[in-house]
Amino acid sequence: MEVIIQPNPSDCAAAGARIIGKLLEAKANAVLGLATGSTPLPLYGELVRMNRAGEVDFSGVTSFNLDEYIGLPGDHPCSYRYFMEQELFKDINIEPGRTHVPDGLADDVGEHCRAYEQAILDCGGIDLQILGLGSDGHIGFNEPGSSLGSRTRIKTLTGETREDNARFFDSIEEVPRHCITMGVATIMECRQIVLFAFGEAKAEIIATAIEGPVSAMVPASALQMHPEVKILLDEAAASRLKQKDYYKEVFAGKPSWQCF
Ligand code: GLP
Repeated sequence: MEVIIQPNPSDCAAAGARIIGKLLEAKANAVLGLATGSTPLPLYGELVRMNRAGEVDFSGVTSFNLDEYIGLPGDHPCSYRYFMEQELFKDINIEPGRTHVPDGLADDVGEHCRAYEQAILDCGGIDLQILGLGSDGHIGFNEPGSSLGSRTRIKTLTGETREDNARFFDSIEEVPRHCITMGVATIMECRQIVLFAFGEAKAEIIATAIEGPVSAMVPASALQMHPEVKILLDEAAASRLKQKDYYKEVFAGKPSWQCF
């Protein structure tokens, strides 16, 4: 687990975009795992800029999003399909048919989840997964207590998550209670993972997830078991880490072949 602390979110976003750029240079048909929420927005902004400047090409890329609300159609302004179209897909040269977001209106949710897992396998697996972090330690929508062996499935959102996400809706009553999310084990199978967290409000849960015990009660702590994880934090989100100075020393002393 490599913890990278940058002065602000835009520096984290630039570093994350360089990691993606490097992957796409080496593998033009890479499979990206994408996330929603406010955290990835600076990253998506930077990817759009790089794509327009001809610095990165998405024409061969396939994408899979982590999750979607059940009951929202893809053209609903609060759906994650809509979010991805607005914040990234419409502004980059990705093939629309190669972008995957779980279908919040699937008739048979169980079958849809199995097909989503199969589609990931059929594309050769996810090369790089982007993650944010819920205030309760969730990744995707894997709420506390999610099995560390879980696959794509239906989940019930916690009250805390519905409150956190109510800001995107007119009222908390409108926030769906159910979602489809990739499982913790689905995420753990991605070859490389980059998690972003920004701001003081994420400091405590970041310290718990990175430096606390691995536990299903903090699904993000499972990432401690993954061999290729980068955690990109601004100073505020890193403020409660016990080993903060060590992480900075490691990053400053990286051999050039490891830099991005
Ligand atoms: C939602 C998403 C997560 C995201 C989290 C954090 O719950 N399902 O993937 O990481 O929000 O949101 P934010 O980045 O807005 O803090």
